[in-house]
Amino acid sequence: MSVEAFRIVGGKKIEGTLKVEGSKNASLPIFIATLIEKGVYVLKNVPSLMDIRTLIKLLESLGLTIEKLDENSYKIINDGIKNIEASYELVKKMRASFLVMGPMLANGGKAKVSLPGGCAIGARPVDLHLKGFEALGAKISIDHGYVQGEVEKGYLQGSKIILDFPSVGASENIIIAAVKAKGKTVIENIAREPEITDLCNFLNKMGAKISGMGTGRLEIEGVEKLIPCEYSIMPDRIVAGTFIIASIMFNGTIKIDGVEPECLESFLVKLSEMGLQYEFDSNGLFIVKSKIEDMTGTKVTTMPYPGFPTDLQSPLMTLMCLVNGTSEIKETIFENRFMHVPELNRMGANIIVEKNIAIIKGIKEFSAAKVMASDLRAGAALVLAALKSDGETIVNRIYHIDRGYESLEVRLRAVGGNISRIKEEI
Ligand code: EPZ
Repeated sequence: MSVEAFRIVGGKKIEGTLKVEGSKNASLPIFIATLIEKGVYVLKNVPSLMDIRTLIKLLESLGLTIEKLDENSYKIINDGIKNIEASYELVKKMRASFLVMGPMLANGGKAKVSLPGGCAIGARPVDLHLKGFEALGAKISIDHGYVQGEVEKGYLQGSKIILDFPSVGASENIIIAAVKAKGKTVIENIAREPEITDLCNFLNKMGAKISGMGTGRLEIEGVEKLIPCEYSIMPDRIVAGTFIIASIMFNGTIKIDGVEPECLESFLVKLSEMGLQYEFDSNGLFIVKSKIEDMTGTKVTTMPYPGFPTDLQSPLMTLMCLVNGTSEIKETIFENRFMHVPELNRMGANIIVEKNIAIIKGIKEFSAAKVMASDLRAGAALVLAALKSDGETIVNRIYHIDRGYESLEVRLRAVGGNISRIKEEI
């Protein structure tokens, strides 16, 4: 059986501009929120990704009509939900599919959604989602791997909710469910990620009454009806962060178009601690001014926003391998998000893992090897390492990377990277 892989020959000079695409993690909940009201929507700056294609299939199976207007724009026609069941086959491919529960309950209807199941980085439960729905008056039961939701009164009732943990997905699901609930909903300890603010901006543009975005406390005044609209998705801050690390590794020969520093503050603070110097040029391009050989290690703990983002932990680890001294990364969000460590060590890295802490010692250069992506961000970390290695690296299981990075090999080739997509027999 053959699977796609990247063949990367390192050591080449990389030079040029990389443009950041629309945010995957804002696109998914915003696409799903179009289930909440009949009408016609247009979404722009949507990244061209496997996850978007998977989600479109799911939304069409629920009754939406989705037309691709161009590579990054879609028209969505909602003339009513025809099917209330989101199947295991579709939900297991992408756990964000579980967000369809919120809009289906928002209209006082029924919903039957497969439990998403775990993935490589963790068990990924949805208990916080379900507690939020119950607080809003939904009746929730779990049967044969499916969550059944029902709103017996025909409408959800606004309520006070305090999340045990600022879960991104649970926050999004509860927000979408609450925008049409009767009365006011207050959600304390809600996630503050910029993607959630983008979702709230989209819903408010439709006439929702959400306030407090980014503060950790959200107030939602339920409304009877929303008006479908056109919306442009925010840039992907995680792709931006990945490209920033690539630019640092090549001493600033890569400029980046689409960096929003206010969404990457903790990330940029940590890189500055390591010695990064940067500026924005007159066209708003992010320019690295420092040299990697002058940079040193630091300590990072992944946290909910505005703390250091777990999704940039693995690309940062690749950089930490190449700077002077020792670094430490503590992963507190997911229970198993260091699977890129043995792969980086195969490439000559010197990383030791003790429970949820990785200790990284600087090395001179990566050595090319055959490696395997375990999640989309780990895959990106391996690609970065391969670009700086001394020979030919094969990165397997790149379907992970295709989930979150738009045509990565095409864009890296455009700035001089020697990277191609091949078929590998496994
Ligand atoms: C979102 O996942 C992102 N995915 C993830 O990005 C990101 O890593 C994560 O948030 C954290 O920032 C999308 O937005 C599509 P969580 P999500 O609910 O919503 C536990 C990527 O690389 N938890 O904040 O699943 C959970 O087990 C992906 O683009 C519960 O215990 O993250 C985890 O340990 C990877 N009960 C922690 O919270 C719940 O009900 C964070 O999960 C929900 C979550």
